[in-house]
Amino acid sequence: MRPLTELFSGRPDQDANLLVGLGEADDAAVYLIREETAIILTIDFFTPVVDDPYDYGAIAAANAMSDVYAMGGEVLLALNVSCFPADLPLEIAREILRGGAEKVCEAGGVIAGGHTVEDREPKYGLAVMGLVHPDKVTTKGGARPGDVLVLTKPLGVGIVTTALKSDVADPRSIAEAIASMARLNRDAARAISGGAFHAVTDITGFGLLGHAWEMAERSGAGLSFDFEAFPFVYGAQALADDWLFPAGANKNEAAYRSHVLFSRLSDEMQMLLFTPETSGGLLAALPPEEVDSFGSRCVALDQPYWVVGEVLEGEGIEVLA
Ligand code: CO
Ligand code: CO
Repeated sequence: MRPLTELFSGRPDQDANLLVGLGEADDAAVYLIREETAIILTIDFFTPVVDDPYDYGAIAAANAMSDVYAMGGEVLLALNVSCFPADLPLEIAREILRGGAEKVCEAGGVIAGGHTVEDREPKYGLAVMGLVHPDKVTTKGGARPGDVLVLTKPLGVGIVTTALKSDVADPRSIAEAIASMARLNRDAARAISGGAFHAVTDITGFGLLGHAWEMAERSGAGLSFDFEAFPFVYGAQALADDWLFPAGANKNEAAYRSHVLFSRLSDEMQMLLFTPETSGGLLAALPPEEVDSFGSRCVALDQPYWVVGEVLEGEGIEVLA
C-alpha cells in the first residue's frame, strides 16, 4: 500500500519524539513525552453493526480502544466522536453514548468530552489517548522466523453482523459476536506485554489475512497459519458456505490474495479469512519459549487464546488446510 506520507507535502513524521507515525503506519500513533512515558493516540468510528444502541456504543468503544492495546498501552482518556441524524430519538443517542462510556470506564479510562455533528446515518466511536512505556510498544514489525502466532478472539463476527442486517443470523451467532466485539483487548495486551514479544496487531477491517500480511511485510518474514486451529464464532462457517459475505470481503481479497498461498482450502473458507472483522482480537508473534508463560498469564486473566501458526523465513502468507 502507498504510504500516507506521500499525500502530505511537509513530512509529518520528522519529529524525533514521534516513535510511531505515518512513516510506517501502525495501529496507532506513539509519541514520547518523557524518558519512561509515551502517549498513544488513535481514533475510530463507524456506522451501527448491531441493533441494540447500547451494544453498538460498547462495541464501537471497544473497537476504538483496541488500537491502544494493539500498541501495548493502557487507556487514559477518550473523546466521543458522534454523527447523529436530526430525527434520532434522544433516548437512542443516550444509549449509544452510555454503552461507550461504560466500556471506557471498564477499561480504566474516562470520557473527557467529544463532538457531535448531524448526519443522515449514525456514526459513533472514540478518539483515544493511552499511555505506554517506550520499551513496551508492540508494533506490527519484528516477527522472527520460529515465532509462534497466537490469536485472542474468534474470527467471523463480520459475516455474522452482515447476516444480522439481512435477518438471517442465528440468535446464538449474534450473541457470541456481540460478546466478542464488546470484549476489551486489555487483558490480551497485558498477557502479551507481561513477557517477551516480537510483533502485535489487532484484527479489524482488513480481515485476518490483511492484518497478517501487514505483520509479515513489516517484519520481513512469512506467516504460516493452520486453518484447523482458527476459532470461529458459532455459525460463521455456515454463513460462509452460503456465501453471505459483505462487500468488504471482496475488497480485501482483491488487495491481499496475491500475498496468500492456500493449500486445499475451499473458496468459502478462503473468503472467510479475507472478511472484515470488527473489534477483533490481537494477533501476536511470540518467541516459542514464551508461549507457556503467555498461556499462564492468559489463564490467570481468564483470557482465551489460540495458537494459530508460526513465523517462517521468506515472505507472504500460507494457510494450511
Ligand atoms: Co488496529
Ligand atoms: Co484503527
